[in-house]
Amino acid sequence: MTTIAVYPGSFDPVTNGHIDIIERGAKVFDEIIVAVLNNQRKTPLFSVEERVQLLEESLTHINNVSVDSFQGLLVDYVKEKNASVIVRGLRAVSDFEYEMQNASINRKLESSVETFFMMTNNNYSYLSSSIVKEVARYGRNAEDLVPPPVERALREKYQR
Ligand code: PNS
Repeated sequence: MTTIAVYPGSFDPVTNGHIDIIERGAKVFDEIIVAVLNNQRKTPLFSVEERVQLLEESLTHINNVSVDSFQGLLVDYVKEKNASVIVRGLRAVSDFEYEMQNASINRKLESSVETFFMMTNNNYSYLSSSIVKEVARYGRNAEDLVPPPVERALREKYQR
C-alpha cells in the first residue's frame, strides 16, 4: 500500500524549518505533496505561483516530493489526491492549540484522513515565514533561515 501525505501551508515563503519537515517526512511516507494554500483573503508577499516555484527550486534534492496549490477545504484536496495523511510541523507548545483545532475539525469532516505531527528540529524552533520577512525587510541577510532560491527572491522583493 502506498501512503501519500499532504504537507499544507501558506509557505510565504518556505523556510529551512519547512524543508526540514519535508526531508524527514519524505523518509516516512511514500510520497509527499507540498500544497500551497491559495487564500484569497490574505495578501501574501509572494504570489501562489512564486511560492510554488520557490518550493520546487528548493526541493530538487528529494525524489518523492511534488509541489501543488489548492483552494477550499484541505480534507477535500487530500481526498482528491488519494492521500490519507496530513503532515504538520510543531515548533513549540504555542503551536499546539491552533493545530489541535485544525486536526480535530479535519477529522470530523473526514475521519479517514489522519494528521501526523512532526516536531521541528530544535535549530528551527524560533523560525517562521513572518520572522524571515521581517529580517529581510530591514535589510538583514536571511541566508541561514531559508533555502538559497528564497534568499535571492527576498533580496529582489526588498530591492537589496
Ligand atoms: O502555514 P499555515 O498558514 O499555518 O497553514 C494553514 C493551513 C493551510 C494548513 C490551514 O489554513 C488550512 O488547512 N486551510 C484550508 C482550509 C481548511 O481546510 N481549514 C480547516 C478546516 S475549517
